[in-house]
Amino acid sequence: MKTEILTYMREAGGYVSGQELCGRLGVSRTAVWKAIQQLKEEGYEIEAVRNRGYRLAGSGDVLSEAELRGVLKTEWAGQELVCLSQVDSTNNEARRLAEQGAPHGTLVVAERQTAGKGRRGRSWSAPSGAGIWMSLLLRPEFTPGHASMLTLVAAMAVEAGIREQTGLGCMIKWPNDIVLDGKKVCGILTEMSTEEDAIRYVAVGIGINVNITEFPEEIGGVATSLAIASGREVLRAPLVDAVLRAWEGYYALFGETRSLGLLKDSYNECLANCGREVRVLSPGGGYSGISHGINDAGELLVEADGGEIRRVMSGEVSVRGIYGYV
Ligand code: BTN
Repeated sequence: MKTEILTYMREAGGYVSGQELCGRLGVSRTAVWKAIQQLKEEGYEIEAVRNRGYRLAGSGDVLSEAELRGVLKTEWAGQELVCLSQVDSTNNEARRLAEQGAPHGTLVVAERQTAGKGRRGRSWSAPSGAGIWMSLLLRPEFTPGHASMLTLVAAMAVEAGIREQTGLGCMIKWPNDIVLDGKKVCGILTEMSTEEDAIRYVAVGIGINVNITEFPEEIGGVATSLAIASGREVLRAPLVDAVLRAWEGYYALFGETRSLGLLKDSYNECLANCGREVRVLSPGGGYSGISHGINDAGELLVEADGGEIRRVMSGEVSVRGIYGYV
């Protein structure tokens, strides 16, 4: 019912009377009033005026279940949906739900994370209401060795979703940071549970800085948001939908060969520093070379001095251009 009320208010563009909502939905005035109160609690600004009815004020940029259900046009990703106002980490929640039997495609979204996780044990700043903090639960049939490639597939889906919704062309910093104007706008953390040589489940965690306008000092130099880059507020629910639709398409192509064979050309087109000099930083030391993009396995091919092509595997190393973060 909340989804329908939102739709009616949006279509009307102004006030919709309580009576009209009751008639359309076939419910009592009290039921409508209760639903409106719940929507307000979820963060919607709704004006109620006597003799006129209800009106949606503000942009309505809320990542509630009602909102997402109203916009999601996916076939399977996110059709099982868990929306939370606050959680420690959506990846943790997706893993907890997976242990309880949640199905392939379950999406966990939170307005706020209190202990957002980044890669390599780092924390991830996830303030309330200004980002997309979500995790997609997968139960793939392939082996654990394939899982690291999913992160690259997710990066492609985020790039495509952002392009569709904002017109902004992002680059991918291998393996899976999404960058705009030389700064990070999205990070992806893939976590997996395995049993012998099978995947029990994978949680693909995606954090997109959408409407954040100020970052803490320690990350301000390397982080940006879609609002900063575009100069306008970006609605999050349609962006979630666009990323998930792109994900479904790319995931299907990935599944055809269980490799990035069909995707690598598109990935390499978005790859920052492709054809340029990069520095490969590993715990055992670093080296410089020319990046030639990824191969079918998602490894970065780097031509070291002397012409030898080295295959860089994700997880082990960090690759940077020679000038700063990207
Ligand atoms: C990184 O670049 O270090 C990865 C950041 C991943 C952040 C997202 S936000 C949603 C999901 N839940 C988490 O705790 N982390 C991921």
